[in-house]
Amino acid sequence: MIIAIDGPSGAGKSTLGKMLAKKLNLLYLDTGAMYRAVGLAVLESGVGFEDKAKVAEIAENAKIELIGEPDSLQIYLNGRDVTREIRTNEVGQAASIVSTISEVRRILVEHQRTIGTSAPNGCVLDGRDIGTVVFPKADVKFFLTAVPEARARRRYEEDLARGLDTTYEKTFAEIKERDERDVSRADSPLSIAEDAVVIDTSELSLSEVFERMSEIVRETEKERCETS
Ligand code: DC
Repeated sequence: MIIAIDGPSGAGKSTLGKMLAKKLNLLYLDTGAMYRAVGLAVLESGVGFEDKAKVAEIAENAKIELIGEPDSLQIYLNGRDVTREIRTNEVGQAASIVSTISEVRRILVEHQRTIGTSAPNGCVLDGRDIGTVVFPKADVKFFLTAVPEARARRRYEEDLARGLDTTYEKTFAEIKERDERDVSRADSPLSIAEDAVVIDTSELSLSEVFERMSEIVRETEKERCETS
């Protein structure tokens, strides 16, 4: 079972992806965390983002590991725990920039396919291109979205809870900037797969969205049983 969850930043993909993975006993793969790890590696290397060949080399050599249960997932970069470090807005912007480089995408997509297909029961992946590029034949595809104000509000509250020094206005501006880059890049821009179920989470509670998603997964499982 491969479940793809795509959508813009702050739409609730990771929270809901983790909940689904836990409920269905599937592996959870946060693909954004992989782009963030590469972004952090580039920032630390001192290499300029415009040097695409060097950035791709960093991506190729980076050992990125996601370890643990969905709720307590830890991200390691070359053996170092970077779980907290990759959540800053600076690293988010760096991730968004490195994700425009085709060679970086090729490397990470290959890694994501390997992890997804080798998970014993299946995998829930969240990102921007899961249903369109990484697993175009995913069993279930969701596209979660919400108005930018609602997404910025959620991200801002998460950042505050993490102890980051930020403001709502700053978060809103960053979300808009990231949206713009994610939808306009030439390679695998954020787009809705034809067969994705679109859910606007702006006015829905977490449990309402979770119920809807669970119901759709249940229906798919039923259909699969009936046809096999
Ligand atoms: O989901 P996130 O905010 O952690 O993702 C960080 C950046 O990585 C995001 O701005 C776009 C990029 N990304 C991507 O291009 N493709 C993915 N599958 C996941 C993330």
